[in-house]
Amino acid sequence: MSLQHDIASIRKNYSRQALTEESVSNNPLDQFKGWLNEAILSEVLEPTALVLSTVSADCRPSARVVLLKEVSSDGFVFFTNYDSRKGQDLAERPLGSITFFWAELERQVRIEGTIEKVAADVSDTYFHSRPRGSQIGAWASPQSREINSREELERAEAKYEKDFASLDMVPRPQHWGGYVLKPEYIEFWQGRPNRLHDRIVFERADDQWSRKRLAP
Ligand SMILES: Cc1cc2nc3c(=O)[nH]c(=O)nc-3n(C[C@H](O)[C@H](O)[C@H](O)COP(=O)(O)O)c2cc1C
Repeated sequence: MSLQHDIASIRKNYSRQALTEESVSNNPLDQFKGWLNEAILSEVLEPTALVLSTVSADCRPSARVVLLKEVSSDGFVFFTNYDSRKGQDLAERPLGSITFFWAELERQVRIEGTIEKVAADVSDTYFHSRPRGSQIGAWASPQSREINSREELERAEAKYEKDFASLDMVPRPQHWGGYVLKPEYIEFWQGRPNRLHDRIVFERADDQWSRKRLAP
């Protein structure tokens, strides 16, 4: 199969908006929430989808999409399987970066920091807010491990449905819960004409955020 398009010639000129020192908030979490609100209002397809990058003990990076579920005063919260590949990476190296790309708004946000598990009660509350089918799914899927077939997964799902049939509330598995990325670096990128994009970076030291502009 060959590509049917000349992908080298695909290019878009970005011209929707500007990001200026005057317009950006002094608090990067407020700036982030403002942009996320706009992404949601603009009905972008998955406004809370982010690319989470982690690194293994032997320094191999890997990345995958997860969904942002909260922006707390600590940072950016997402939920997953603690025994997954990302979970194992984070157990060894509790660092990561997350990237949002809101194409329709010509915006990217890059965030870096340390990552830790959220408190068990935060995971419990979110777990129980999910549809029962997703709760069963968290028990049935040994995320990131090799399985023999789709049927194996469906058999596990049926088993846990049966096991928990008499319970009003599916218990949260110990291997499933939230993480919070505590930001130390937050970069806001706004596409501009002629590839001369705006990049404003916030860096945290001693609980103070400083701000600078980077060349695109
Ligand atoms: C739009 C989208 C949303 C996703 N949301 C999550 C999520 O919130 N949590 C999660 O564990 N996996 C989520 N996934 C699946 C992950 O991308 C990934 O396949 C899974 O977490 C296993 O990753 P790992 O083997 O690197 O640990 C999502 C995938 C997509 C495409």
